[in-house]
Amino acid sequence: MTLRIGIIGLGNIGTQHAESVFSGSIEGCILTAVCARGSSPIAKKFKIRHYSNYRELIDSNLCDAVLIATPTFSHFEITCYALNKGLHVLLEKPLSLSVSEGEQMLALAKPDQVFSLMLNQRTDPAFVTMKKIVSQNLLGSLQRISWTMTNWFRPDIYFHASNWRATWAGEGGGLLVNQCIHNLDILQWICGMPKLIQGFCGFGKYHEIEVEDEAMAFFEYDSGTVGTFIGSTGESPGINRFEVIGDHGMLCYDGESLFHYKNNPPTSQFSQTTQDMFSQPDVHRSNLSPFPSVNQHAVIFQNFVNAINLNDELIAPAQDGLNSLGLSNAILLSAWSGERIEMPLDSDRFDKALELRRSQSKLRKPTRIANKIDMTKSFR
Ligand SMILES: NC(=O)c1ccc[n+]([C@@H]2O[C@H](COP(=O)([O-])OP(=O)(O)OC[C@H]3O[C@@H](n4cnc5c(N)ncnc54)[C@H](O)[C@@H]3O)[C@@H](O)[C@H]2O)c1
Repeated sequence: MTLRIGIIGLGNIGTQHAESVFSGSIEGCILTAVCARGSSPIAKKFKIRHYSNYRELIDSNLCDAVLIATPTFSHFEITCYALNKGLHVLLEKPLSLSVSEGEQMLALAKPDQVFSLMLNQRTDPAFVTMKKIVSQNLLGSLQRISWTMTNWFRPDIYFHASNWRATWAGEGGGLLVNQCIHNLDILQWICGMPKLIQGFCGFGKYHEIEVEDEAMAFFEYDSGTVGTFIGSTGESPGINRFEVIGDHGMLCYDGESLFHYKNNPPTSQFSQTTQDMFSQPDVHRSNLSPFPSVNQHAVIFQNFVNAINLNDELIAPAQDGLNSLGLSNAILLSAWSGERIEMPLDSDRFDKALELRRSQSKLRKPTRIANKIDMTKSFR
């Protein structure tokens, strides 16, 4: 079967998704319609139907599925409309502005509808390898998790060039919900969800924006594992360093290389049995890199098409987007209130706190400065 797909939103990322189809990177589907505000050069170039209203595209009967790549605040409205009309949906991250919006969207999907999220970093071979090692319990019980991801630097032009980014009204947040949503997803995908979160944020610390551009969080897990997460769009050079430490060793990823350290014997056993006061277990280090480069977005897109055409299991079901959004929402709520937040998040409390900020927030007027875009530099 050839799936008929429509793409709603043809900005930075929607255009890239359309080009993936036209370049033949996605098998089993054809692009039958696109929707964007204003003209769309890609529709003209490839002679496909263009709509400026998403409802018309969804009602056109030209599409079995839609890929939604519009500003974050519109994800809820457009996804609800598409799901209600029976279409399969691949939605750009983040799922929505809040967990409660996400839950309402998920409740609309019928069992025969495929609803997936563009959590493309799940296809990064380094993270796939880390997940496998942790799931196979090769690290033993986890002691500490630490991810410093300050390699999300964005210059001011990034914020000035669009009206919705980095506003409470347009995104419901900044660094956490836009850039770090990828890291928060990978963190929970590999290590599970914490039960307590303490968050600290810098709001507009490095840029003229109202939302957070620096975030730090402390996590406590049921198992006793502890974790820290640090993100920033204001630092250069940034760091990407992700460590998972267990009783049997450690995984250490520095953004390029992944090292697996194996303790012999496990730390707890060594500690309880050694007579040598200043000794440590023997450690064997293996370098698991380099990894092949992967077109992450195309893999998720292909998996979505295959889930519909061939019943393949989804790599990133939309349901999974609730966890990273819950982490992002909880870090913000903790920073606003100064309290430690218990998970699962009290979504009513978060909604009220966000609504207060959204009611005082406006989309900005984009500056008319010539900006350069190289999307290959965007995904770290
Ligand atoms: N997965 C990733 O790596 C990744 C990368 C970039 C962006 N994103 C996500 O993709 C989404 C879009 O980001 P972007 O940078 O491409 O935005 P953008 O501002 O560059 O483009 C948005 C597009 O949506 C269209 N649009 C806006 N409102 C619309 C509406 N109501 N109906 C139809 N079309 C509408 C605009 O005309 C434009 O074509 C965001 O949610 C963002 O977080 C994901």
